[in-house]
Amino acid sequence: MGMTVAVANQKGGVGKTLTTANLVRAAAGEGLRVLAVDADAQANLTATLAPEYQGAGLEHSLATVLGSGDRLDAAIVASEWEGVDVVPAGGEDLADAQQTLVIQKAGRELRLRRALASVAARYDLVVLDCPPSLDQLTINALSAADALVIVTDPGQYALNGLDRLLDTIDIVREYTNPALVVAGTIINGYTYTRRMDRWCADIRSAASALGIAVLDPPIHRLTWIAEAQEAGVGLDQWPDPKAAVLHEMYVDKLRAVLAAVGERTR
Ligand SMILES: Nc1ncnc2c1ncn2[C@@H]1O[C@H](COP(=O)(O)OP(=O)(O)OP(=O)(O)O)[C@@H](O)[C@H]1O
Ligand SMILES: [Mg+2]
Repeated sequence: MGMTVAVANQKGGVGKTLTTANLVRAAAGEGLRVLAVDADAQANLTATLAPEYQGAGLEHSLATVLGSGDRLDAAIVASEWEGVDVVPAGGEDLADAQQTLVIQKAGRELRLRRALASVAARYDLVVLDCPPSLDQLTINALSAADALVIVTDPGQYALNGLDRLLDTIDIVREYTNPALVVAGTIINGYTYTRRMDRWCADIRSAASALGIAVLDPPIHRLTWIAEAQEAGVGLDQWPDPKAAVLHEMYVDKLRAVLAAVGERTR
């Protein structure tokens, strides 16, 4: 049966989209049929995977699905990567759709879940790239997901906001998605400095106290990781043997996420 994974953290610029793209790439390389859903009006995931669909004004997109009840299958486009389909965000139209959801009442948190159910049979894995906010888009994503991956950057403020994210998870579990599993956190953007090591230690002790797994090893901050993302190129395609090693790390992280859900549902 297919699985849905949300990648979230309301903190901006921590590497959610980069992580989503690399987990998607890892899954496709393992032969899974993948649907990547861009739930952020910035449309960065769309820019990576289906750049011609990154703007606003699309006839079909996640914005039209959530905003006006369009069918999800109409919004699915093929990506540049074999085995990977994309639901483009719709750019600023998605921000408008988010606003529309806010003023709606019954069922607004479950729009995405319902839409995904209509295409579930076609995919082994759905990955949802969330915006840097705990808005209705993130709540829709958490309500639709089997598992959540939290991306954290080791910095001074890494743990700020974690309480609010956990509160949101509790609310989602209570009202819309009791089975939501926190698969763990991926530390992204690590560099060898004493300060970074201290921040990583802080993240590890906070995660341990909360019973959240750290999906080791941390992902280093390296220019070519961002370059590959910008070029829409998988790390396994990047002309540097170190990139292939990193691709395998994402395969391992994907397996850990899938296993976390397997344990919960066994
Ligand atoms: N490990 C890394 N090494 C180098 N650059 C990175 C790394 N992780 C992320 N970046 C770069 O940092 C920027 C922010 O990353 P990304 O867009 O994935 O973050 P985000 O959490 O999705 O941001 P937002 O909250 O705006 O959606 C991007 O330009 C990305 O390419
Ligand atoms: Mg992003």
